[in-house]
Amino acid sequence: MADGSWYDADIDRVIISEEQIKEKIAELAQKVAADHADAEGGILLVCVLKGAVMFMADFARALGHYGPSTEMEFMAVSSYGQGRTSSGVVRILKDLDRDITGRHVVIVEDIVDSGLTLSWLMKYLESRSPETVDVVALFRKPDAVKVQVPVKYVGFDIPNEFVVGYGLDFAERYREVPYVGVLKPEVYARS
Ligand code: PRP
Repeated sequence: MADGSWYDADIDRVIISEEQIKEKIAELAQKVAADHADAEGGILLVCVLKGAVMFMADFARALGHYGPSTEMEFMAVSSYGQGRTSSGVVRILKDLDRDITGRHVVIVEDIVDSGLTLSWLMKYLESRSPETVDVVALFRKPDAVKVQVPVKYVGFDIPNEFVVGYGLDFAERYREVPYVGVLKPEVYARS
């Protein structure tokens, strides 16, 4: 890590390093590739903006080493709720650009918190007649899960703390932090 990044003083401690993220993504890519080796038409990755952008970019490249071929789709959804609490009522801000009928879809999520977003998204995608729908989530907060969602591939279980980095934000900031860290309480207390 380079010295003197603007965010260093705001992070209490690192819980997942850049290296750990890289290794885990390679591991996840190998598993997903092995399970989809015979997937006709390859894998259609569906990234949920914005938090999953970092993961999508690294995961797609890792998957490229193991195959099969992939295509990328991006969706943006907004969950009605209070602050960081999602309600399960989801509005589509950006839909898929193509038909997914008969395709092998893998939803790429950064984090499963309550599970409400994913639960809604899986139903939505399944209603569009794909051949298969699986989920790969890099992070999961087990303490906070409100609905059980079948997330087949999970990177890390993380504590129910205020974490940022590798796509996870606080008020849209800290997404570019290359590791996952716990934010100092005074940072969110002052906003
Ligand atoms: C985050 C994350 C998931 C969702 C998980 O997105 O990317 O989509 O919350 O929460 P849930 O399991 O409680 O539904 P967020 O709405 O913060 O948007 P962002 O990705 O743009 O930060």
